[in-house]
This record gives sequence, C-alpha cells and structure tokens, in this order.
Amino acid sequence: MKVVSIIAAALASSSATIAAIVPVQPRDVADGFYQVVTDDAGNTRTEFKAFDFGSAKTSPNEARVLEKRAEACGSPVNAGEVDQANECLINSFFGNNVYLRKNQWTYCVRGKVVSFICPYSDGDKSKNNISGAWGYVRGKCGSNKAGYSQVLYGNGDWTAGYAPNDGISFCTAGFHA
Ligand SMILES: *[C@@H]1O[C@H](CO)[C@@H](O)[C@H](O)[C@H]1NC(C)=O
Repeated sequence: MKVVSIIAAALASSSATIAAIVPVQPRDVADGFYQVVTDDAGNTRTEFKAFDFGSAKTSPNEARVLEKRAEACGSPVNAGEVDQANECLINSFFGNNVYLRKNQWTYCVRGKVVSFICPYSDGDKSKNNISGAWGYVRGKCGSNKAGYSQVLYGNGDWTAGYAPNDGISFCTAGFHA
C-alpha cells in the first residue's frame, strides 16, 4: 500500500510538471501537421507529426479560374507563413492525391497561421486541386487575408483554407488548433 501511494504521489507530481509546460494559448500550438482520426469505437483523437519547414519548397499558389464556391474571407495573416503552412499540409501526404474520411479535419500550424483541409464527406482530391483552393482564396481575399473555399473536382465535399492560429474555429464550430 505504501509503495502504491508513493507511486501515485510520483505520478501526481510528474503530471503536474507536464501540465505546467503544456501550452495553454492557442498561439503556442507547436508548428507541424495534425490530423483528427476516429477509431472503430468512434473515439476521436488528434495525431501530430513534426514537419521540416527548412526543406519545404515554396511554390506560391496562383489564383485560378473563378467559379461559384462556398467561401469566405477572414482576418489578416502573414503571407509567408500561409505559404509554409500550406506546404506543410500538402507535403505531409504521399503521392498526388489526398484521401480523407468524413470529419477527418487535417491541418498544419506554422507560426501564427493554421492551414486546413475539411472533408465533409469521405473522398479524395488531387493535391493540385487542394492547392488550387488555397490559390483561389489568395486571389479572392488578397495575400494577407485568411479565407477558405470549396475544393473543386475529385470526390467528396471538402473545403480548404487558412486562418490566424489564435483559437479561431475552422472546419466545424468549436474546432480549433
Ligand atoms: C485538378 O487536378 C487535376 C489533377 O491533378 C489537374 O489536372 C487540374 O488542373 C486541377 N484543376 C484545378 C483547377 O486545380
């Protein structure tokens, strides 16, 4: 019993230490790739993968054909961080297509920006078409404004965009980095 209570006390103090270093402000969220996954029991958790921003090639997204989409513009963002967050997100997938399940919100944090892909149904889209959505937002909102738009083509009802990483919700009400 004594041993158990010592272990319990040690655990309690180590978790207190951990709690103290866990970032509490949304802007302290670590840079990198995050993905919401749902297990067979229906429980969701968010997985994290570091991303090497040093080796990310930056290819500015170009605005493409304007078409009617579900879209909106938002708050100011830094264009360089937007490019890096988008590169993190798209380069964290292998191959030319991205496959996601419904509600599998996937995002990258880079500094004060969060870039996201929101699948509202199971599907797959080409990386070109996801980058096309980001490029469309840039053309529509300006290079220093957040926004999102529908991802055209491929299968599924998805949006993609980027926002300030300041606790703002994206993909669905109440969800944030
Ligand atoms: C959509 O993706 C396909 C396949 O990569 C590509 O050929 C096409 O140019 C893309 N269209 C847009 C508007 O992004």
